[in-house]
Amino acid sequence: MRVVDIIQKKRDNEVLTSEEIGFILDGYLKEEIPDYQISAFLMAIYFNGMTKDELKVFTSKMMHSGDLIKFEGIHKFLIDKHSTGGVGDKTTIALAGLFAAFDIGTAKLSGRGLGHTGGTIDKFEAIPGFHFPQTRDELVKMVNTTGTGIMGYSNKIVPLDGKLYSLRDVTATVSSIPLIASSIMSKKLAVYADGIILDVKVGSGAFMKDLNQARELAKTMLDIGESFDRKVVTVLTDMDQPLGYAVGNTNEIIEAIETLKGNGPEDFTELVETLVAVALQIKGDAKTLEDGKSMVKEVIKNGTALIHLKEFLSASGANPNLVDDYSLLPQFKNEFEVKSKKSGWISKIEAEEVGKAAMVLGAGRETKEDVIDHSVGVLLKKKVGDYVEEGETLAIIQYNERNLQSSIKLLESAYTIIDEKVNKNNVILEIHAVNVL
Ligand code: URA
Repeated sequence: MRVVDIIQKKRDNEVLTSEEIGFILDGYLKEEIPDYQISAFLMAIYFNGMTKDELKVFTSKMMHSGDLIKFEGIHKFLIDKHSTGGVGDKTTIALAGLFAAFDIGTAKLSGRGLGHTGGTIDKFEAIPGFHFPQTRDELVKMVNTTGTGIMGYSNKIVPLDGKLYSLRDVTATVSSIPLIASSIMSKKLAVYADGIILDVKVGSGAFMKDLNQARELAKTMLDIGESFDRKVVTVLTDMDQPLGYAVGNTNEIIEAIETLKGNGPEDFTELVETLVAVALQIKGDAKTLEDGKSMVKEVIKNGTALIHLKEFLSASGANPNLVDDYSLLPQFKNEFEVKSKKSGWISKIEAEEVGKAAMVLGAGRETKEDVIDHSVGVLLKKKVGDYVEEGETLAIIQYNERNLQSSIKLLESAYTIIDEKVNKNNVILEIHAVNVL
């Protein structure tokens, strides 16, 4: 077999055999095939896509390129909720309390943030004393005692994805739906969970800019899930504005806690209620989405979800009293109110610009080496569909020393204000599933 023939076949939109896909991916992993040939191969996939069968083999090869993890000794029904990446996405923090309230376990690997999107690991690290499990045994113990075990990604899981992603990044092939789908699903399949929930973000602040693209990505990931006989649900959600009001680290922790106290933003509350309701349906504890949502409302109202979050924080080395005393979290020094220059209805808030406005203050990383300042961020005061008077506050910048002026500029450009009344965005756009519901 010759690599050039496989590239040519894909270039000419012919279907590759399992052997051909295996030959090229194994060869790349063993460093027997150079980057320039894989670059051409990726570009051919970018233009011609992959069939369902090709994608199954491709994903399987990715998944088996490193360790497969099935955490032994966990006594809980495991759900892996994954988000394709958004701005203000503090869902995993709220789910730590909510899933545990229903005896649903989380045993998963999470990432750090880069660019305008934040990472779950960074958000938890805002909490003084908080530490993640360092070994598999520690993680299993955390899941069994608190419901939640999260570790950082290791390069032993799907190492081929890391290699391919770096190459895609510099060859303009990141935004290929089959490549994104196989990249995400190989990592989800490599770490066992009883059910996988994929929150596919749609909008200006997300990978998928419009609903059609998002539907195609969701369908492709569901097809992969089906071919591996796994229970998968995709929830398409709005990212045409940040999620909730808080964008940063400490402020997102506070917003997630407030949500478990029943004081969360409307959109974020709706999202977490839906995700947990879907998990309850996968587990078989709720017949319908509406039943599941009522169950979620109840554990928020009666305080059970918050108690479970406190248990998780305590077992992770943090002071659980922080849920009632936010002065135990890192404090920013200054606030700046960004005022509206005109009266009207908010029609759009570019999530990416808001993410960057928080990032330049130090809440995120521009490069992998940047050090995060967990105390800073942006707190939106107005969302899409709200009316604003000239001179009223649109957003508050919580900052220390860095880059206030750039953050103001980014926030001002993020908002679009028009004269006509605007409806609020629905956060949940569509839900699709395989092997469940
Ligand atoms: N997230 C991933 O894990 N992989 C992609 O290719 C894109 C987003």
